Amino acid sequence: MALSAAIVLAAGEGTRMRSSIPKVLQDFAGKTFLRRVMACVEGLHPGILSVVVRHQADRVAQAARSYDDRVTIVRQDDIPGTGRAVQCAMSGIGESGRLSGTVLIVASDMPLLDDATLRDLLRFHEDSGDDATVLTALLDDPTGYGRIIRDSSGDVLRIVEQKDANSSELAVHEVNTSVYAFEADALARSIAGLDAKNAQGEFYLTDALESARKSGRVGAFTASDPLCVQGVNDRVQFAALSKQHNLRVCEHWMREGVTILDPQTTWIEDDVVLAHDVTVLPGSFLQGRTVVAPGAVVGPYTTLIDAVVDADATVERSRVQGSHIGEGAAIGPWTYLRPGNELGRQSKAGAFVEMKKAHIGDHTKVPHLSYVGDADLGEHTNIGGGTITANYDGVHKNHTSIGSNVHVGAGNLFVAPVEVGDNVTTGAGSVVRHEVPDDSMVYSDNDQHVVKGWKPAWER
Ligand code: UD1
Ligand code: CA
Repeated sequence: MALSAAIVLAAGEGTRMRSSIPKVLQDFAGKTFLRRVMACVEGLHPGILSVVVRHQADRVAQAARSYDDRVTIVRQDDIPGTGRAVQCAMSGIGESGRLSGTVLIVASDMPLLDDATLRDLLRFHEDSGDDATVLTALLDDPTGYGRIIRDSSGDVLRIVEQKDANSSELAVHEVNTSVYAFEADALARSIAGLDAKNAQGEFYLTDALESARKSGRVGAFTASDPLCVQGVNDRVQFAALSKQHNLRVCEHWMREGVTILDPQTTWIEDDVVLAHDVTVLPGSFLQGRTVVAPGAVVGPYTTLIDAVVDADATVERSRVQGSHIGEGAAIGPWTYLRPGNELGRQSKAGAFVEMKKAHIGDHTKVPHLSYVGDADLGEHTNIGGGTITANYDGVHKNHTSIGSNVHVGAGNLFVAPVEVGDNVTTGAGSVVRHEVPDDSMVYSDNDQHVVKGWKPAWER
């Protein structure tokens, strides 16, 4: 099943999204539409992978190259339409030699396209020996899609766009998905005669199918899973497809042994990995390359981005990004872990605690109202409520090191760079500016002044 070329259509503006971001670069569950479609097409190893750009061309081209640097970027000129996009692609690809064999064409606003569906299409196309095969879907609500028109014996005649269709054509539920397999020479012939005599005044790629039929044979292959081939034109479709996709992801994890109390309010991105006996409570967002180990409880109302949560840890009502949470650690409620934290086994980051690039040893606890940034804390250390590492002098980020078995009193201020040894006790309200040796006690003089008989201003 050698695929000589794949053409990804990404030149459209996506007007109906009403966005300053091109539609193909909209983020869908953590990855852009274009990235998703390109990854899926790459799975078929086409000889040439070409992406057609026009609207915000440089931006789309740059994104496409960042997903795959072997991509051939083709610019569509000012003539609009999917047919024109393919004309431009074919002449762009043609420059690097004559094309023969099968060419796959794919729109890039189908975020859930999968390579199994494309493989099925190509196999069907090859077996049929047809010049062109369109991938179709049977939809309960076909509104907005081009309809597949067949004759009385079931052969495909043409595709009619919604805006050009009459009432009997509109009643058809089989739709064009904007994915096609064409034999290269038939494709070149069929797109040569396209025109813009239609409701939208555009060169329609759909007309190429009818034209291919005049000189050869065309067919249709119906995708077994209509969800995979749905297009997104506006934000209502975007929300609906996101929801359906997310429910599938949640179902997958539930079948793998994850308890998800409310899949309607639990959003899990594709690259997240969850172990059996993880519990995800309502209102939680698991994103990026988050990995959660057995027995951990996440949520309610928790966001994990590229987080690694070890077994039996709990993360409640918190936001955690780029951090590793050790086995049995307790995070939250209301904890903010910014990137670069390593929290040890049975450690704790409690209410209204913020951390950044903090290494917290096993059994060390930061229970209340603290900021720990650019710091190393040893094991079995306890940080009193309201303690701050003053890590930023206005120019540099400075490091704080606190040893093991340290008891930090409430309301301490560590003015970095500073080092505190093991087995240290600090008094409440201490301002620690200089090195504190092992096995010592440190406190700051903090004179208390009492003014007797004082009256507040409004009583004077
Ligand atoms: C298209 C099909 C329709 C099909 C539907 C499936 C045509 C005429 N219609 O309609 O039959 O049911 O997809 O979702 O083909 N694009 C370009 N250059 C352009 C215009 C569009 O590259 O000048 C690209 C877009 O970036 C997009 C794709 O082509 O990835 C489809 O464009 P879109 O405007 O979404 O087409 P639909 O109206 O959905
Ligand atoms: Ca579309």
